[in-house]
Amino acid sequence: LNGRPNLALPEVRQNPYPLYSELRRNAPVCQVEYGGWAVSRYDDVQYVLKNPRLFSSEGLRFAAEPPWFGRSNPWCDSLVLKDPPMHGRLRTLVGRAFGPGLLTRLEPSIQATCEELTTRVLERRAVDFVDEFATPLPATVIGNLMGLDPSLYSRFRKWATDIASLSASRPEDTELLASVRGSVEEMERYFHEVLERRRREPGDDMVSDLLRARVDGESLTSTELMGFLFFLLLAGLETTINLLSSSTWMLARKPELLARLRADRSLIPRFIEEVLRYEPPIQASLRLCTEDVVVGGVSLPRGSLVYVLLGSALRDETQFAEADRFDLDRKGTENLAFGHGIHFCLGAQLARLEARIALEVLLARVGGLSLRSEQLEWVPSVTVRGLRALPIEVHPA
Ligand code: HEM
Repeated sequence: LNGRPNLALPEVRQNPYPLYSELRRNAPVCQVEYGGWAVSRYDDVQYVLKNPRLFSSEGLRFAAEPPWFGRSNPWCDSLVLKDPPMHGRLRTLVGRAFGPGLLTRLEPSIQATCEELTTRVLERRAVDFVDEFATPLPATVIGNLMGLDPSLYSRFRKWATDIASLSASRPEDTELLASVRGSVEEMERYFHEVLERRRREPGDDMVSDLLRARVDGESLTSTELMGFLFFLLLAGLETTINLLSSSTWMLARKPELLARLRADRSLIPRFIEEVLRYEPPIQASLRLCTEDVVVGGVSLPRGSLVYVLLGSALRDETQFAEADRFDLDRKGTENLAFGHGIHFCLGAQLARLEARIALEVLLARVGGLSLRSEQLEWVPSVTVRGLRALPIEVHPA
């Protein structure tokens, strides 16, 4: 390692794993370019996530609202940036909307959407899987969940990737920053309308549930509601798009794996867990040290920004034998792809359900997949990992 590693470099975002591996070996807790510390080993990552008193989630503000962004980002008002006790209050309020009834309510429409999208990709044969399947499925699910207008679904991905790219932005990226500001303004206008409409006519959707939710007589404030809608759209969309496209990319590269899953579809949940480990859609979360603290033997001063590298922890050889190998038969160590501790992902079961049904339907009807290009581009973000496009050819069973 020469000097401070730069997590945001385009070549690192194309393939971050060699850098992560070097960090784990030679500098498991080290300062990075542009300020902050990277924590790369599994045990240290888990330690940080388990200790919200020492490591505040306010750190995420550096990714969502860097000073050069020049405006606020409403997602900073959501529960993911809050610490106890405020976090607990918000999590209780929104957690109700994520009860067990949610999956039962959504499952039939997930199944129908997967069938419809599979029919369409089989008709077209040569498709961009990200555009034609991986995006419309979670956009429809999150749209149903929130009671949004389907005509806007095509805007969702732009909003989501724009906001994710802030984490790797620099002050000189004026065009990108203007585009992201435009997206944030569009989202704000749109969610204002949604909230107004649901206040007038409550329905059977999550926005109406959130408007009704009370804990000890208290409801969510307008700022908290707006923050949560922003976060929900981003959390529910970009991550799931990336899980679906990385899964399909893996199957297109490994025909023997595709054949094995087609022969035994009960292996699909294990396959999904291994994709989550191997290409975690969230690569990093951020925290801020609330006091002087020692991590992995290194002293971090109060106020330090910490890049918690989930993508590295999940390739840690001390936890996962031959960690760089994709292995369906892996068991044991907890997968940190959905986080750990008080901020553990509220949508984990929903994301797993969407991926399982999508793969069941695809594998029943698709006999093979081939990549139409070896040159794939990944979204330029320190926090998110996903393919910008996945050009494939789909062969019917
Ligand atoms: C939190 C990953 C899908 C809603 C998180 C966190 C991670 C994560 C790593 C913790 C962040 C932190 O500690 O700073 C993922 C992945 C997904 C996914 C990999 C898909 C493959 C979803 C979906 C939804 C969702 C579909 C909702 C529809 C949330 C919420 C939180 C969260 C509300 C915040 C929980 C809290 O702060 O208490 N997710 N997520 N996620 N996720 Fe997900």
